[in-house]
Amino acid sequence: MTTFRLTSTLSTLLMLIAAAPAQAQDGDLARGEQYWEVCAACHGQNGEGNETYNAPRLEGQHGWYLKRQLEDFIDGVRGAHEDGPSGQQMASMAATLLTEQAVLDLVAFIGTLSEEN
Ligand code: HEC
Repeated sequence: MTTFRLTSTLSTLLMLIAAAPAQAQDGDLARGEQYWEVCAACHGQNGEGNETYNAPRLEGQHGWYLKRQLEDFIDGVRGAHEDGPSGQQMASMAATLLTEQAVLDLVAFIGTLSEEN
């Protein structure tokens, strides 16, 4: 009886663990890591940010927020003002992402940076 309960608790736990990343991310970590190489030039290898480039810290930030910012850059909602060179710089970066899937892949990968630190 005890063994049965333990086994079923364990399998419930495993199911939750297996389901969690898919729900939270839906992105491909390996592809995200590849894309990240370019981003790291300004935002730092671990997403720690770099004031010299006006590039903010991304590590530890909510995935839903990063996703919206990237979409806003791509859509020209953010980074389109002629007096905002930092935003423009990032907007031209985001334009290279093009696909929604690439944004998801990147956001998923950036989410792992906080775990590494
Ligand atoms: C040429 C330097 C540069 C590169 C390369 C770059 N960024 Fe940025 N990024 C910036 C700057 C500068 C800002 C701040 C924009 C502003 O002030 O509005 C920024 C802002 C952001 C933001 C918004 C952060 C916030 O807190 O609102 C996100 C998300 C982001 N970058 C993700 C990325 C990703 C993902 C990549 C790789 C595809 C990338 N960046 C590549 C310079 C860069």
